[in-house]
Amino acid sequence: EKGGHEYFMLKEIEEQPEALADTLRGHFVDGRVILDEQRMTDQDLRDVDKVFVVACGTAYHSGLVAKYAIEHWTRLPVEVELASEFRYRDPVLDRDTLVVAVSQSGETADTLEAVRHAREQKARVLAVCNTNGAQIPRESDAVLYTHAGPEVGVASTKTFLAQIAANLMVGLALAQARGTKYADEIAREFNELAAMPEAVRKVLGTIERVRDLGRSLADAKAVLFLGRHVGYPVALEGALKLKELAYMHAEGFAAGELKHGPIALIEEGLPVVIVMPSPKGRAVLHAKMVSNISEIQARGAHTIVLAEEGDEAVRPFADELIELPAVPTLLQPLVATVPLQVLSAEIARARGYDVDKPRNLAKSVTVE
Ligand code: F6R
Repeated sequence: EKGGHEYFMLKEIEEQPEALADTLRGHFVDGRVILDEQRMTDQDLRDVDKVFVVACGTAYHSGLVAKYAIEHWTRLPVEVELASEFRYRDPVLDRDTLVVAVSQSGETADTLEAVRHAREQKARVLAVCNTNGAQIPRESDAVLYTHAGPEVGVASTKTFLAQIAANLMVGLALAQARGTKYADEIAREFNELAAMPEAVRKVLGTIERVRDLGRSLADAKAVLFLGRHVGYPVALEGALKLKELAYMHAEGFAAGELKHGPIALIEEGLPVVIVMPSPKGRAVLHAKMVSNISEIQARGAHTIVLAEEGDEAVRPFADELIELPAVPTLLQPLVATVPLQVLSAEIARARGYDVDKPRNLAKSVTVE
């Protein structure tokens, strides 16, 4: 059942192209993006004037990734918030607020309570969920199921990629209802998403080197992760995976924050993973990142750089280079996350830990 793999997690990492393809399948019909269990009218969607994404852990990171695209496509403000924070403050919600509750299990206590709170305030709730008929979709006004299949490894991998894809489809459905994108633009965005399983397959084909790299990092005391724009949530997710699996101190930062504090952490030999933006798609950010890397390298960091293939400018600053296929900027997290999952799993294995069952963690957190 582990398909010849030592751990479910490694099998699930390899299933990501299918998880993405299955999540997208059937949601673009006759030129229109469609949701599941739609109990909201088109008018409800058109009336939305603000979006909250609420979730926990990895699911929260999927919301952070999607914010960039949803705001760009819909011109609606999108706030992404940890469910445990959202529910205990007094968020401004009304019937024109769309709350997107993202949960693999559909049973996470904090996310469920956030949904209940939102509905009491008359907000519309759309669930993004991997588990048919779970409590969160049952209590929501509409659902978009991720079809990643059952995830046995406690750490989320394929469900994260599927959540990103689903969140992006929510963005396209909103853009369609609001008319902020023409039908042909929505078709183009959807087709770009539909090409991502192939791009992820390409990344999986180059993962052996990342495994070696992981083994070589087994004795590191800490690892930092840096990103900008959509690379920032990728950095957060990379750090979370490493904490969970390898029990190693790891932190993700927005690279622009370096000078505001984190650069003080840089010391000789500290591994720093950097998610580079595309040199073509995001030239300005790319240049800023190169300058960030040169600064930390000058202070002795061991730089592990994830960069688009053909990115020559970053090479001199990369002690280790992991190449990614060129994909549309907003979709880069779907390829950039994969090597980071493998890296964490491999470091954990080299340290002798069970990557399917990290200590102290449960697959579904139904108590607060
Ligand atoms: C991390 C991980 C957790 C979950 C979080 C939310 O690898 O698995 O952070 O993402 O507990 O769970 P769901 O998505 O079931 O609400």
